[in-house]
Amino acid sequence: MQVDELLKPFPIKEFHPFPRALLGGLRGSDTVHKIVESLKYHGLEVVVYDKVESNPKDYNVMDAVAMFQETKCDSFVSIGGGSSHDACKGARISVAHDGRSVNEFEGFNKSENPKNPPHIAVSTTAGTGSETSWAYVITDTTTDPDNPHKYVAFDDASVTTLAVDDPVLYYDCPLDYTAQCGFDVLAHASEPYVSRLNFPPSLGSALYAIKLTAQNLSAAVWNGQDLPGREGMMYAQYIAAQAFNSGGLGIIHSISHAVSAFYDTHHGLNNAIALPRVWAFNMPVAYQRFADIADVMGVDTHGMTAVQAAEAALAAAIRLLRDVGIPEKFTDVTQDSYSKNRLGKGPTKYYENSPTISGDAHDVDRITNHVLGDACTPGNAKECTFETVRPVVDHCMNGDLDDLLS
Ligand SMILES: [Fe+2]
Repeated sequence: MQVDELLKPFPIKEFHPFPRALLGGLRGSDTVHKIVESLKYHGLEVVVYDKVESNPKDYNVMDAVAMFQETKCDSFVSIGGGSSHDACKGARISVAHDGRSVNEFEGFNKSENPKNPPHIAVSTTAGTGSETSWAYVITDTTTDPDNPHKYVAFDDASVTTLAVDDPVLYYDCPLDYTAQCGFDVLAHASEPYVSRLNFPPSLGSALYAIKLTAQNLSAAVWNGQDLPGREGMMYAQYIAAQAFNSGGLGIIHSISHAVSAFYDTHHGLNNAIALPRVWAFNMPVAYQRFADIADVMGVDTHGMTAVQAAEAALAAAIRLLRDVGIPEKFTDVTQDSYSKNRLGKGPTKYYENSPTISGDAHDVDRITNHVLGDACTPGNAKECTFETVRPVVDHCMNGDLDDLLS
């Protein structure tokens, strides 16, 4: 990816459309089986690809493409979180280009053929927003194994045909995933609210998504069958994605992508750890915006200066992170501390060389360099250089959250 291209300013603001959506009301569990049986009952033939990994890899996408072509399919249904939807979006783009590698479409609107198979996306997590966004994220495993590469493709041709969000489908989402996905939502909402793109149509939805997350995440985490909590997070994740869709992201996501690239850790977990550090980094260029965030997070900002209120927002985010039990820095993330972590036991030999997150100087350097090449970085509120971002990455790896509290 050409970093120069990514770091261009944004001379034109563009609003990217959303797909049709059905929200709330479906019932049931055993989700995939029931959807497959329902499709068959209605006379459709179905083949299932169920090998998509967390942080979907290019080979997951290409295996799905091969199955699609060999079995002469004509459309897609993805069921799951962002990994399933993103792999499916990438597969559709590849199918529309005679099975060319998905990695050829990294970047902005790289599809040459805008037409690809129909896609219904059914979400089983409240985090991704992929079912309604123009983004998909893939790990390229064909690059130098010492420098793996996770990239975002933004492509209007990847937008799904129909999004289905039902809070009942989240009931089976484990506690730790629920918490981590919730911080993906907080990142999706807060990054466009302070982004240098400063896109007014995104600001209201961004702020409301933060409010919904502050009000509902703890309930959804600690009682997975709390319908109001799950429903609140459903709307939070849906409208947060619609905020970033045109309003941009920032280096919470860039750091998250880099750590996933090297360690295959969960996107939401990475976002949660990066979020307080990046808020603190960006705050000096957006105190009033962070003061607004404090307000919707339930802080009584009456009588506070914008700086004080912004700092209170950061304190509220750290409190929420602690309330929902997320590790506080990357070197705390071990196989023992994080049940779903696949550190060192990934599905391929690719990750066997990364049994623990080292956080040493070499690690911080390579993660910082990955951040600077990420498509989300140009939208970050504050200018990013190696010198300014490296301490942020270092703090994510090794720093104490209490350092950020004044
Ligand atoms: Fe995300």
